[in-house]
Amino acid sequence: MNIPSGTSTNSPTREMLEDLERVLIAFMRKHRITHEQYRAATQILVDTIKDGEESLLYDVFFEAESTDIGNRYRDGSPEAIEGPFYVPGAPELKAPYVMPMRAGERGDVLFFIGTVKDTNGKPIAAAELDVWQADAEGLYANIHPNIPLWNLRGRLKTDGNGEFTLRTIVPPPYEIPKNGPTGRVLKILGRHYYRPAHLHAKLRHPQFKEMTSQIYFMGGQYLDSDVANAVRDGLVAELKLHDSAANLNARGLSKPYFTIRYDFVLAPSVPNVVGQRTVAQ
Ligand code: DHB
Ligand code: FE
Repeated sequence: MNIPSGTSTNSPTREMLEDLERVLIAFMRKHRITHEQYRAATQILVDTIKDGEESLLYDVFFEAESTDIGNRYRDGSPEAIEGPFYVPGAPELKAPYVMPMRAGERGDVLFFIGTVKDTNGKPIAAAELDVWQADAEGLYANIHPNIPLWNLRGRLKTDGNGEFTLRTIVPPPYEIPKNGPTGRVLKILGRHYYRPAHLHAKLRHPQFKEMTSQIYFMGGQYLDSDVANAVRDGLVAELKLHDSAANLNARGLSKPYFTIRYDFVLAPSVPNVVGQRTVAQ
């Protein structure tokens, strides 16, 4: 919620804040929240900041709902949660695109292949993909210590046909930090701490709306029980194994590798009012 700094009288933000206050007070009455419980709850929020989880706690519980709401009102492929681990300013890669990685980076080779098109099916050249993912241990650079800055984070562009290919590694299912306040809340709820394996991407082009996506691997573990409840049908793609000698030769590889294909559709930056999607559709 973007809270304006000046005082406002009848703004939508004010209406939302008043509604939020009403909902929370009704909740307190319903559950007869004592002062002790109230303080325990505020302490959880204080602890998120102490433990660097100020985004994690809310993202796990609420971010997917906000992307669902947004997707009802936009064209193009569905948006997905950003999660707490996006870092702007990843290196601009040069074609042929290979994710920045350590010598001997663990994990099976993966080619992330796809296209970026507009809502009429016309390829978009020079669209930027800003991709980030966990390593084979399920750890993100810039977030977890001892991983080189920008490891498995990079920006690339579609070619003249709106196509891209990025060589990287297959990420594993990801266990969110469980020793802080977010983990304590999940433990009380009796939930596990896993997200299914995924690749993150932000897509940008001056003439289109920026979008945040996340691609999951068909058949992967935790697709049905994602701790962040963020998997949606339109975001799951098939992970294909390639192990024939001909394929390996063509890619210059000695071990089997995987491909995943996803075709992104970007909505125009200025919505076409006539064609705009509505809730009723
Ligand atoms: C969350 C999302 C992620 O993509 C991730 O890697 C970790 C946590 C989240 O929603 O909390
Ligand atoms: Fe993630």
